[in-house]
Amino acid sequence: MSSTAHRDADAIDIWNELYDPDDAAIWGDDPAALVTEDVAALWRRDAARDILVIPSGDGRNVRSLLEEFPGILCADTSQRALARLRRMMLQQGRAEPQTRICDVYAPDALGMSFDSILCWDLLSHLDSPRVAIAGLLRCLRPGGSLVVNFFADDDPSIIDDRSTKIGPKLYRNDHDICYQLYDETDARAVVEGLDPLDIDLRKISWWEDPHPGYRPYRHMHRGLAMILRARS
Ligand SMILES: C[S@@+](CC[C@H](N)C(=O)[O-])C[C@H]1O[C@@H](n2cnc3c(N)ncnc32)[C@H](O)[C@@H]1O
Repeated sequence: MSSTAHRDADAIDIWNELYDPDDAAIWGDDPAALVTEDVAALWRRDAARDILVIPSGDGRNVRSLLEEFPGILCADTSQRALARLRRMMLQQGRAEPQTRICDVYAPDALGMSFDSILCWDLLSHLDSPRVAIAGLLRCLRPGGSLVVNFFADDDPSIIDDRSTKIGPKLYRNDHDICYQLYDETDARAVVEGLDPLDIDLRKISWWEDPHPGYRPYRHMHRGLAMILRARS
């Protein structure tokens, strides 16, 4: 059991155990194109230098971007994920990335502010995504961007025969990880009243390689990507 107090604390250890000590890529090594293309384009356009990626996992989405954006700080609650990220970079003869253990509910603990923050594939697993987003917005510099995603309620892969429905649009899988599904209205409701300068919400879809022992077949996801812009 983790020492963290919030209701998602137990899942932190489950996630950490999922990362394979034998070095398999649990989520596959293919990055999400929306991150490597669209998010990278946003960082370029904004001339973003100090960037927080939380959770980075083992870095599948950011390894290829670290050379162009050396100011990326990779943070996650999983010691194993960050260790795999560092190992992969060193094996490829690339510079060791900056990594920190950090809970998305307590980003202030980093003691830093950022030009951009990427929070990919986590909010839909959390009990209180609004609390997480509010904390991340606090860590943005004026005019900075926060990019997040939610799993869509018409995602064809998330819910399978290993998932149990435990609430409205809420499922738990056989690893005890929860999935909350969203439509556009649900996603807007999460951030209502947080008052960023601007919110851009888009429907997205992408393919992922097999995740060994987790979702071991090539599969498609649908989701919602949201960009929140901090007031200048
Ligand atoms: C589905 S993975 C996504 C990882 C990465 N964003 C990617 O797309 O490959 C979810 C990640 O969230 C991390 N995580 C779970 N709870 C967390 C929390 N409270 N704070 C920060 N990271 C957390 C897990 O360790 C895991 O690496």
